[in-house]
Amino acid sequence: MSTIEKGSGVEGAWNPGQYERSYSFVWKHGEDLIELLAPQAGERILDLGCGTGQLTAAIAKRGAQVLGIDSSPDMVQQARANYPDLRFEVADASAFRTSEPFDAVFSNAALHWMTKAAAVAAAIAGALRPGGRFVAELGGKGNVERLSKAAIGVIEELTHSPVRDHLGLWYFPSVAEYATLLESQGLEVRYAVLFDRPTPLEGGENGLRDWLQMFLGRVTQKLPADAGAKFIERLEERLRPELFREGTWVMDYRRLRVVAVKGE
Ligand code: BEZ
Repeated sequence: MSTIEKGSGVEGAWNPGQYERSYSFVWKHGEDLIELLAPQAGERILDLGCGTGQLTAAIAKRGAQVLGIDSSPDMVQQARANYPDLRFEVADASAFRTSEPFDAVFSNAALHWMTKAAAVAAAIAGALRPGGRFVAELGGKGNVERLSKAAIGVIEELTHSPVRDHLGLWYFPSVAEYATLLESQGLEVRYAVLFDRPTPLEGGENGLRDWLQMFLGRVTQKLPADAGAKFIERLEERLRPELFREGTWVMDYRRLRVVAVKGE
């Protein structure tokens, strides 16, 4: 698994192969977000945090001209291999600039990794033409809260030192917080909803440990050498009564969906 430092404030370990094998629900859930985007033939659309490119391709299939960007070179390499006819670039969303504004900016399950949220919102507004739309889904306030609380408790046990009240890995805004941020950039929020999406993980008994290895690598790497395995075991033990149902780990995902339009 490679570790990458992402300029947008995203830091983490990504493994495109494992991501595609075990986390296809990420883009499957994103398919109805494309209905909300309603791409039109010939429109110029930016897919922010495109990962391995499946939704970029679904947008392109509607006849739009899409550019997929992601800060992970590994993900972009895989996206190009998957869809050689489409355009993908490695880019830091918080610093993204374009001389040719887009009709729409789209993003699925990526913005919560970009902790420089104000800079990202400014870049989104800057990338849109007047009247252009921003359609996105990200983890919202309360996302993976049981997991986060349990992880903090276990880290404190293993390191004998207090952890601040969050893991510092993600940005999970409330409706009010995100709408305010978008409005501060001249984007008028037309739709915003926060909803629970309990999400079954693949892998049966191993589902949670695979998820932790994929998405919490940065945390486990910082633990003392012998503590990584204990961290996983203790988390499984703590979360089993709440998140393990009939042989499947079910993550306490909560999503924030928004549509906003840039002022004319
Ligand atoms: C999410 O999609 O909500 C998510 C994925 C990995 C880590 C944290 C949150």
